[in-house]
Amino acid sequence: MAAARCCEEHDMSETSELVALCATDDIEQGGIRRGTLPDGHAVAIYNVDGEYFVTDDICSHGEASLSEDGMLEGHQVECSWHFGRFDVRTGEACAMPCEKALRTWPVRIEDGRVFVDAGEGNA
Ligand code: FES
Repeated sequence: MAAARCCEEHDMSETSELVALCATDDIEQGGIRRGTLPDGHAVAIYNVDGEYFVTDDICSHGEASLSEDGMLEGHQVECSWHFGRFDVRTGEACAMPCEKALRTWPVRIEDGRVFVDAGEGNA
């Protein structure tokens, strides 16, 4: 398989799968947007004071979409279905009834766009 590229200038390693999700301007500060990885997996992209984080979009407690039904407060996203919370930096569950962590992906900002390494998500 050929090495992935984020643009003409940046060849990535054979194991890297850098994927452009959106423009940084697409998400206001404190906002959340939905994105999709090449395999169809839905992710939520967060803008916390100009820093970007990416987690699973679907809450680990139920089927809520965190990009649609979540509320970002600092580095935590609250799921409006049952008020569970996650730390968007680590995916860690911070409030019941959520116990299982969300997956997270390393983020890179290049040329005003938000990229994740789709091959590097934690489990
Ligand atoms: S579905 Fe998210 S807290 Fe229950």
